[in-house]
Amino acid sequence: MGEKVLLRHEEVPGIDRLEVYVADGGYTAARTALREKTPAEIVEMVRVSGLRGRGGAGFPTGVKWGFLPKDSPKPRYLCVNADESEPGTFKDRQIIEFNPHLLLEGTLISAYAIQAHVAYVYIRGEFARGAAILERALREAYAAGHFGRNIYGTGYDLEVYIHRGAGAYICGEETGLIESLEGKRAYPRVKPPFPATVGVFGCPTIVNNVETLACVPLIVGRGPEWFRAIGPEKCPGPKLYCLSGHVQRPGVYEAPMGISLRELVYGEAFGGGIPGGKKLKGVIPGGSSVPVLLPEEIDVPMDFDSVAQAGSLLGSCGIIVMDEDTCMVDALRVIARFYHHESCGQCTPCREGTGWLERVLEHLEFGGARPDEVDLLLRIADNMMGNTICLLADAAAMPTRSFVTKFRSEFEEHVRLDGCPKRLAHAEG
Ligand SMILES: Cc1cc2nc3c(=O)[nH]c(=O)nc-3n(C[C@H](O)[C@H](O)[C@H](O)COP(=O)(O)O)c2cc1C
Ligand code: SF4
Repeated sequence: MGEKVLLRHEEVPGIDRLEVYVADGGYTAARTALREKTPAEIVEMVRVSGLRGRGGAGFPTGVKWGFLPKDSPKPRYLCVNADESEPGTFKDRQIIEFNPHLLLEGTLISAYAIQAHVAYVYIRGEFARGAAILERALREAYAAGHFGRNIYGTGYDLEVYIHRGAGAYICGEETGLIESLEGKRAYPRVKPPFPATVGVFGCPTIVNNVETLACVPLIVGRGPEWFRAIGPEKCPGPKLYCLSGHVQRPGVYEAPMGISLRELVYGEAFGGGIPGGKKLKGVIPGGSSVPVLLPEEIDVPMDFDSVAQAGSLLGSCGIIVMDEDTCMVDALRVIARFYHHESCGQCTPCREGTGWLERVLEHLEFGGARPDEVDLLLRIADNMMGNTICLLADAAAMPTRSFVTKFRSEFEEHVRLDGCPKRLAHAEG
């Protein structure tokens, strides 16, 4: 295994404290950026590095920063998306709780690059511990002159506010986040306009994921070429992978982009295989909102392009492993229930569709489903895809399509037996 740069705390204990972070070279990149580089030079370094957003869509970060209007007199804002609510995803939390200064340094450099003087860290409401750790780290950093007025004597000012969410998944969608930050319900906005032109308080805004921003000090400190040399050419850099479900060693692992999914599930340095030597049934590679992969599909390199080619999405890198004993109908029912609960209700296909998915899956799992209800799931999913304001509807529809298509006989068996065979066997004792 190579050096850990994102999970640095595994090699440098106590790095959540400012003095340890600084002794390890922390805030050197920020000083270099603010004293020796222009904002445009930092944007260019990030563009050249090939960094792609780690929030789910994989959009090139430098390109996104370049969308900010050049001639707008309005202030600009940076929003750190620390809402991390996608089931199976718990990587940003590691950075926040164990290496908070890496995120703060990334926020500082990125805010300078886009010429923002205010940055908001929008942190998931349930992350009480993370918020407290981040608050303490921010206080330490302010006291040492890394934030506030005239940072490092350069004349650049930056204020950072930590804003706690109230516990809705939709607050992670960037325009829902912005609405919530403005004190309203987190109803996602119709796009365009995108936040880069009309964001927080109607001003140009960049929203970036925690892990994305944590990469920025590494790019500035070690150089874009260093970053670009890690992993595939079109999707480079170090990456955090969340492993959960039926693996020997669940957890967050750091490895280059492009490592194979098989290695992550079975490798000795990673998941270590399935408990009890059981067989693999399926793997969701990118959080609950992406299509499931079959055992024969897991040699895929874990980068945005390769996973898309394999018919799924890298998403948030929340890898959920399911063994041979998993009921795929029940697994999908749990996923559908989540999206039904989290739909904000603005769009009919999402509000009604997620409810229908959950209801039909309940019929299949607990009894009472008609034979045509397996196809009904596919029809509902088709009506949801691409017909709504944000992607939550697609997030429910995509796993539905893949589960039903790839495990159709299991769904049909549930109809035939009028319920889940595992539950029926259990009830019979
Ligand atoms: C329903 C929904 C939930 C989302 N939740 C998150 C989240 O919790 N964290 C996150 O970083 N991005 C989330 N996103 C993606 C954001 O909208 C946005 O694309 C991301 O913060 C951009 O950051 P990046 O360019 O650094 O990847 C979500 C998107 C959708 C549609
Ligand atoms: S797709 Fe769903 S969550 Fe997104 S805006 Fe529409 S109703 Fe709300």
